[in-house]
Amino acid sequence: MAEEICLFIKDGLIIKAPKKSPVLLRTIVLVFVMVCGVYICSVCLKQTNFSTKTKFLNIEVLESYCHEYDIDRSETPYLHYPKPKTFRRAECSCNPVRLFAILSMQRSGSGWFETLLNSHVNASSNGEIFSVKGRRENASSITKTLDRVYNLDWFTSASKNQCSAAVGFKWMLNQGLPEHHKEIVQYFNDRGVSVIFLFRKNLLRRMVSVIANSYDRYAKLLNGTHKSHVHSIEEAETLSRYKPVINLTSLMTDLKQMEVTVMKTLEQFQSTRHIILFYEDLVKNRTKLVDVQEFLKLPLMELISRQVKIHKGPLSEHIENWDDVNKTLQGTVYERFLHADY
Ligand SMILES: *[C@@H]1O[C@H](CO)[C@@H](O)[C@H](O)[C@H]1NC(C)=O
Ligand SMILES: *[C@@H]1O[C@H](CO)[C@@H](O)[C@H](O)[C@H]1NC(C)=O
Ligand SMILES: *[C@@H]1O[C@H](CO)[C@@H](O)[C@H](O)[C@H]1NC(C)=O
Ligand SMILES: *[C@@H]1O[C@H](CO)[C@@H](O)[C@H](O)[C@H]1NC(C)=O
Ligand SMILES: *[C@@H]1O[C@H](CO)[C@@H](O)[C@H](O)[C@H]1NC(C)=O
Ligand SMILES: *[C@@H]1O[C@H](CO)[C@@H](O)[C@H](O)[C@H]1NC(C)=O
Repeated sequence: MAEEICLFIKDGLIIKAPKKSPVLLRTIVLVFVMVCGVYICSVCLKQTNFSTKTKFLNIEVLESYCHEYDIDRSETPYLHYPKPKTFRRAECSCNPVRLFAILSMQRSGSGWFETLLNSHVNASSNGEIFSVKGRRENASSITKTLDRVYNLDWFTSASKNQCSAAVGFKWMLNQGLPEHHKEIVQYFNDRGVSVIFLFRKNLLRRMVSVIANSYDRYAKLLNGTHKSHVHSIEEAETLSRYKPVINLTSLMTDLKQMEVTVMKTLEQFQSTRHIILFYEDLVKNRTKLVDVQEFLKLPLMELISRQVKIHKGPLSEHIENWDDVNKTLQGTVYERFLHADY
């Protein structure tokens, strides 16, 4: 079409441009030709754009032959049909996979939460993959790792490769997240990764758990092995027999620091599709797990975990210098941590 116009104009030019025309006429013709040229160029460009677009659409159609059309169109950015390099998804290749990341802090119940999630036949949460430093060294090593996990090419005991409907991992806030948050948010939004924030309301209890866990790293209270999570009441009792001494000098600033870290993360990741969970709510109200499954659009199932809570009952039983801690926090914004269960 554009070529035809080009020819016609050329012809027109040859026919119509008289050889001995006045300067004014020549200028008018010249301007006319220039305007035409620009117009034709723009038409040609538009056509090229259009044809690449159709090509692109064709590829999309080919790749999405197994999209289910009863799925809400607004969900499309969150649906993935990975083609793993390491195995074939076989009859599950048309099971859409949703990508997620659990953003949490140590000793906030994320280990327990992950076992619950992994008890779902279609969910794979691959643990703390960024605990290895090399994987979070820079934005490109992070991206490479994420690509592998989300392409189902990452193998852990949690992998349910073929029929996964949700795949992810847990990411602690001190594992390169604040440093690379811009690139990570970009990646999450580009790939449609859903974020599950899991925090603990009672930061004093979290502090007790952190100190006790790092003490056990050296003390190895369970027959000489260090355990962060336990599966029996006896083991839980053994571990909780150790009562940490809380540093009163830094107590207030330490609690404040934890709070700031959480607020900062929520702010940095607010543009992602996300859900905010609190450990205490999950403990008290198992229907919260329904919210999680709905968030990940998983078929609803009863989720189970064999893990047993380590520090049960009132906090006063778990802190060596309780009276001082009680006094220090009385009348402060953190007083509520003294009373709350869990
Ligand atoms: C990123 O880190 C990886 C792993 O340590 C390293 O091999 C790579 O060269 C780094 N890339 C850049 C761009 O710094
Ligand atoms: C969940 O997994 C089961 C067993 O692998 C499979 O039959 C089913 O299609 C999967 N469901 C979804 C929604 O992926
Ligand atoms: C530790 O050893 C005792 C006695 O040998 C045994 O009864 C207990 O089950 C062991 N506990 C663990 C966690 O292995
Ligand atoms: C308690 O915290 C303060 C301030 O961070 C620090 O200077 C001090 O060494 C800590 N005390 C103990 C026993 O760790
Ligand atoms: C438990 O959680 C569900 C889902 O979030 C909520 O609708 C319900 O009100 C909660 N129940 C209680 C007792 O908090
Ligand atoms: C904490 O201290 C207050 C008064 O200072 C006291 O009334 C309260 O019983 C103490 N709480 C516990 C659990 O010891």
